[in-house]
Amino acid sequence: MEPTHDDLNPPAAAPAAPLRIRFGLSAKLLVLTVLFVMLAGGCIYAWSIAQFRLTWLANKLSAAHTAALAFDAAPEVPDELSRQILDSIGARALAMKMGQQRRLLATTEPPSEVLQEVDIRDMRPLRAITEAFRTLLVATDGDLLRAVGPAPVGGQFVEIVIAEGPLRSAMLAYSRTVMLLSLVISAITAALVYFALHYLFVRPLRRITANMISFRDDPEDQARILALTSRRDEIGLVEHELAEMQRDLTNTLREKTRLAKLGLAVSKINHDLRNLLASAQLFSDRLARLPDPQVQRFAPKLMRALERAIAFCQSTLSYGRAQEPPPDRRPVALMELVEDVRETLGLQPDSRIGWITSVERGLTVDADLDQLLRVLINLARNATQALESRAPNDPARDQIRITGRREGAVVLIEIADTGPGFSDQARAHLFEAFQGSTRSGGAGLGLAIANELIHAHGGEITLVDGTIGATFRLKIPDRPIPLHERRGERAHA
Ligand SMILES: Nc1ncnc2c1ncn2[C@@H]1O[C@H](COP(=O)(O)OP(=O)(O)OP(=O)(O)O)[C@@H](O)[C@H]1O
Ligand SMILES: [Mg+2]
Repeated sequence: MEPTHDDLNPPAAAPAAPLRIRFGLSAKLLVLTVLFVMLAGGCIYAWSIAQFRLTWLANKLSAAHTAALAFDAAPEVPDELSRQILDSIGARALAMKMGQQRRLLATTEPPSEVLQEVDIRDMRPLRAITEAFRTLLVATDGDLLRAVGPAPVGGQFVEIVIAEGPLRSAMLAYSRTVMLLSLVISAITAALVYFALHYLFVRPLRRITANMISFRDDPEDQARILALTSRRDEIGLVEHELAEMQRDLTNTLREKTRLAKLGLAVSKINHDLRNLLASAQLFSDRLARLPDPQVQRFAPKLMRALERAIAFCQSTLSYGRAQEPPPDRRPVALMELVEDVRETLGLQPDSRIGWITSVERGLTVDADLDQLLRVLINLARNATQALESRAPNDPARDQIRITGRREGAVVLIEIADTGPGFSDQARAHLFEAFQGSTRSGGAGLGLAIANELIHAHGGEITLVDGTIGATFRLKIPDRPIPLHERRGERAHA
């Protein structure tokens, strides 16, 4: 079964509709800035209007203070004059308390009801503020107010009765000025804050967003990775991290595309290779019929090798992916398998590379024969290549040794050579597909395949440290026997 289009391309999630900005950050910032500046202005205004009222009253009281001195010195002031003095202060009546006695010094009219009293010598801020707003919002122009302040010449206090009207108009004029001023200040501040935030924050964010949208259209295009600015603040950090993420993603995607193309190429190669091998099989079939004893000896091996190759191509094609089929395990005689490996690599007893097999007598491995053969061929071929890369060749020195033994339920196989050993680069990428090859013409797949196949058997493969050349150790555990079979065995025993 060839891989279908759907297998290779799982359905992508539908792209989300682009989000529209409704109430942008700039607008929010502008409104907030105006609000905050107004709030701050409001607090300052409440405090300053209370102070303005107290100062206004204090000024009146200090004029009253001077008049009280005059009235005290000359008690018989004509009515006309005392009215003029009171008018200049703006008061309706003037009194002073000395000792136990409160004296009315001058008055313009018969006393009427006084609604409020303000003692400027003792005024709490909160009370000053509430009273100021009462004067502004509640009082009418005709309401009378008694203001009390410090007295001259040993008196206890001076008090005046005045109408709230003039005070209120003075306060309104003051409020208008303050309002105008704070409007100007808040407009200037809001504009400054707005532009500062816009340039520091909103504009870079827009740039990043625009980049993300364009990157999303083609994440494999390196030119779309965000260009970094020289900023070193939080925005700079965001830019840096985003660019790094985009770079990683681009590389991963490129690698994936390369691998997908490679996969397709391998499938094609496999397909036609299978056909070519099938015709080679036909020729070797005919070859096997020749009476020559040498041909008779090798033809069956050739036939078997070709059969295996065809079966391998077939299974790779049917899986259509890099994944191996699960191992088909049965007891495999290791000695014979190792012999097969030697013959496949063309190593004769008189070869330039010595071959030593030291396998326990009758040792069987619980493994998939074809897969274990591929593992050993890959490792042994690497060893031969490593030895051949070194000149001159001396069979006494250049050796490959395969040992095999059983330890309980685990079979240990070691493949050792006396070659140059692993280079640092090959060691750094041990068992990684396409990464570790240092050989020209090497794909860097041999060790990755061996690793995958051994793991599929529940085993492990390691490079043994501290040996001459390179030594790989394979551990292949037997399949666990299901419980009911074990019980059956015991019953038979
Ligand atoms: N026995 C060894 N001695 C020294 N170096 C080795 C040995 N076996 C493997 N290597 C190093 O490990 C690298 C990776 O080996 P691997 O079999 O995975 O790939 P390859 O042999 O380069 O290519 P191929 O996919 O054709 O097998 C080799 O290129 C080589 O540098
Ligand atoms: Mg190799």
